[in-house]
Amino acid sequence: MFADSNYLSKAEQLDREDPLALFRERFTPPDPGLIYLDGNSLGRLPGHTADWLKEVVTAQWGKSLIRSWNEGWMDLPVRLGDKIARLIGAGPGEVLVCDATSVNLYKLVMAAMGYQEGRNRIISDELNFPSDLYILQGIIDQLGSGYELHLIRSRDGMCIDPDLVAAAIDDNTALLTFTHTYFKSSFVQDMAGITSLAHRKGAMVLWDLSHSVGSVPVDLKACKADLAIGCTYKYLNGGPGSTAFLYVRKDLQTKLQQPIWGWLGSRDPFQFGTQYEPADGISRFLVGTPPVLSMSAIEPALDLHLEAGITALRGKSIRQSAFLLEMYDDWLASLNFTLGSPRASERRGSHIVLRHREASAITRALIYPPADRVTVIPDFRTPDHIRLGIAPIYNSYKDIYTGMQRIREVVESEEYLKIP
Ligand SMILES: Cc1ncc(COP(=O)(O)O)c(C=O)c1O
Repeated sequence: MFADSNYLSKAEQLDREDPLALFRERFTPPDPGLIYLDGNSLGRLPGHTADWLKEVVTAQWGKSLIRSWNEGWMDLPVRLGDKIARLIGAGPGEVLVCDATSVNLYKLVMAAMGYQEGRNRIISDELNFPSDLYILQGIIDQLGSGYELHLIRSRDGMCIDPDLVAAAIDDNTALLTFTHTYFKSSFVQDMAGITSLAHRKGAMVLWDLSHSVGSVPVDLKACKADLAIGCTYKYLNGGPGSTAFLYVRKDLQTKLQQPIWGWLGSRDPFQFGTQYEPADGISRFLVGTPPVLSMSAIEPALDLHLEAGITALRGKSIRQSAFLLEMYDDWLASLNFTLGSPRASERRGSHIVLRHREASAITRALIYPPADRVTVIPDFRTPDHIRLGIAPIYNSYKDIYTGMQRIREVVESEEYLKIP
């Protein structure tokens, strides 16, 4: 493989100076010769998770059996929620770990629409995650005539213009719902600005934090945010399909009623009454029995993030992104790549998108290299996006150097043309 001694020595120097470098050792090492740049899709496995799950399975389930519900299992949704709250600027009792992100979106949008009775407009945008848009379309269909979903168009396919958001809000607007960090371009919305704009017009805002939590600091309290949802399997390393979370601001909790009236969201599930009455606090947004094994896997990774600190993680992510962009400008801009993410770090999350007409073949060449080459795992998003996810908790500067070198090699040598 090509080597560039300037960038290589810079990467090694930055790694030596990195105060978070040792966190890398606390994750299970991948195969040797594998560079993982996909932590924005599925985060790596923390070293402690397997032992912790063994403990939950053998001691808690195996030996304590049903008593474990009273020895911690029942509290898991709120207890883990309180830990996530510390990463997103929420208070205790405002975050709940439950269900999938899409299901939580459904619950909170329906609750908001009930609360905002008389207002019939939901605003989102065409760059939002497809599942979010599908859920919103289904809700409009379910609510029936008179309700509308207004999608703001993107002028550049990468960002959503705040002027268009301002222009879209009218007196009928019940709710705006946006992703905070966009799944394709990594564009970061102005949470404080949009929330205050919406509030001035009596509208609520729901934020999807899936690509922010664990990588981009969020201060829900300072922004006076109403509602939020998010995944735990990306930067939070909770494992494949791990349970999602939702946030409801404290003063809204008793005012909102969620649409799925399950027993665990009721005031006293173990009275086994016949009439539903919602619990008082955040627990009213629960539905059924928590998936204890899946939820338990989230905790070791959460503890690592709390120990590292979200401000330090963000600082490292910005420095690593700047390093990546330096190599991009130097090597790749002349190889028919364009940048698919905002350049300004304050408007960008922790992944960077490189666009190329042959992005699909290049991605496959990186993932399935010849035997004497390093494997690099980014991900591909149609039609021409290569997403390079920087997870500052375990990615080194050398990972980024090696990943970029390999992309350069695959394109310069036209190795990707050999990919069937
Ligand atoms: C921004 C965003 N929202 C929602 C989802 C869907 O999450 P879930 O599969 O937990 O419903 C994803 C999944 O990747 C996502 O990236």
